[in-house]
Amino acid sequence: MNNVSKVADLIEKRQIAKLGGGEKRIESQHSKGKYTARERIEMLLDEGSFEELDMFVTHRCTNFGLEKEKYLGDGVVTGHGTIHGRVVYVFAQDFTVFGGSLSETMALKICKAMDMAMKVGAPIIGINDSGGARIQEGVTSLAGYAEIFERNILASGVVPQISAIFGPCAGGAVYSPALTDFILMTEQNSYMFVTGPKVVKSVTGEDITTEDLGGANMHNSKSGVSHFKVEDEQKGIELIRELISYLPQNNLEDAPIEETNDPINRLEDSLNEIVPDNPNMPYDMKNIIHGIVDDGKFLEVHAGYARNIIVGFARFNGVSTGIIANQPNFLAGVLDCDASRKAARFVRFCDAFNIPILTLVDVPGFLPGSGQEYAGIITHGAKLMFAYGEATVPKVTVTIRKSYGGAHDVMSCKQLRGDFNYAWPTAEIAVMGAAGAIEVLEGRAIKGLTDPTERAKFIEEKTAEYKDKFANPYQAASYGYIDDVIEPRNTRFRVIRAFQALQTKKLVNPLKKHSNIPL
Ligand code: HXC
Repeated sequence: MNNVSKVADLIEKRQIAKLGGGEKRIESQHSKGKYTARERIEMLLDEGSFEELDMFVTHRCTNFGLEKEKYLGDGVVTGHGTIHGRVVYVFAQDFTVFGGSLSETMALKICKAMDMAMKVGAPIIGINDSGGARIQEGVTSLAGYAEIFERNILASGVVPQISAIFGPCAGGAVYSPALTDFILMTEQNSYMFVTGPKVVKSVTGEDITTEDLGGANMHNSKSGVSHFKVEDEQKGIELIRELISYLPQNNLEDAPIEETNDPINRLEDSLNEIVPDNPNMPYDMKNIIHGIVDDGKFLEVHAGYARNIIVGFARFNGVSTGIIANQPNFLAGVLDCDASRKAARFVRFCDAFNIPILTLVDVPGFLPGSGQEYAGIITHGAKLMFAYGEATVPKVTVTIRKSYGGAHDVMSCKQLRGDFNYAWPTAEIAVMGAAGAIEVLEGRAIKGLTDPTERAKFIEEKTAEYKDKFANPYQAASYGYIDDVIEPRNTRFRVIRAFQALQTKKLVNPLKKHSNIPL
């Protein structure tokens, strides 16, 4: 072969590699409404930025005659490129090659990309679409998974890791996405479970569909395994690009600043009237969030799961900020097991990646009852407390309305090293709500009043007295637990000024191997 032929041979090999498992299988992939691995990467990265690695890697398996069936690149496409001009490493499993099932060499390709991402401090994005372990390879495939898991673990808190599920993700394969920071699933075609419907049926007798067992709807509402549900792959890819824009490259950097024309001192008059006079009336906390952040833009995480608490990313004067807010519109914004876990994980993500935290509080307390106690609300609530207390990033808290009992402490109070704790004049900061308090404090006196009118009058008077004393922010402010009571419409300005003043914050936790968060 002369040199010209060698170049032609290379070009041909590249073309073959780009066809993955071949045109028929690509057609089959398209017919299911799915894109191929390379199409997904092209859509995800800035145009023309993709540099592929290991295109000529093939599997080494000789079982079941597999040595006769080889595809250049094997079942995964890996490499690097940019999103909004910043480097990311990617891998996308190629369903057209042995159903994207994981071979030993595929694992090596993924690990190489992950190692490079760690070396340069860049996010890792994995697109999952795979039949799991390559059955013909046996235990080497399992070892390959474990190599990936270990890298997921070591990369955790060092570089952001994002997993898109655009097809099957079953068996132990689910644990790589589960170890990453964010999971995104498409409404159609994606599912995740440890064991599929057939095994479930044979082991437990339960009849259940793939969708009900591990589809996007289930994981985005019931299990909380997935953080985002998207209509289709294109929307999913747009969402990953948006998510990346809020994140730093690694734990030693800050997230990029995005210039805004939204004035920092913009007054949002509607906020002065947003909290209803009746403390039992709900309102939508999202209106407050949209009203104070840059350009009203908020990327909600875990939107369909534990809706009594809201978490997500926004910007204040261009600075990426994590927001955690109780949602009075759902279960009165109470803290339960799921809400505690959801918020704790988000707080820890923000803290790991130097993203300041804003907490908006309207919480009546922890959800009472045997259901919650049996489910371990003590441990789960402690997770959120731990996450806030351990976090060293700038923390600003604004109490909007209720802040009662243990939930007051948990929601980034002053003593959990809250940096600036503000309250609206509508705030109620106390051990418990008026009705409950009067029942405890005046129970004997109430029982002694047999005349119903007299009893009602007594309760009304005592409740009013309690409310006057405690259903306000001023007792907490008189102790300095609240740094200032602020006018609601001026919240954006006060929050921005607080974070500006915290830009140089330095806080280091005691040296230790690692903490022991109540898992
Ligand atoms: C080898 C596989 C494969 C696998 C699919 N294929 N899964 N090859 N190992 N695990 C191949 C098929 O033979 C087929 O090859 C092609 O991929 C497409 O598969 P189809 O079945 O035609 O596609 P579809 O009908 O869409 O069904 C997709 C599927 C199904 C639901 C994923 O293929 C399936 O059930 N596969 C097996 C899943 C599984 O049990 N995996 C092991 C799980 S245990 P051709 O040549 O026809 O195109 C596990 C342990 C991990 O993963 C542990 C980690 C710790």
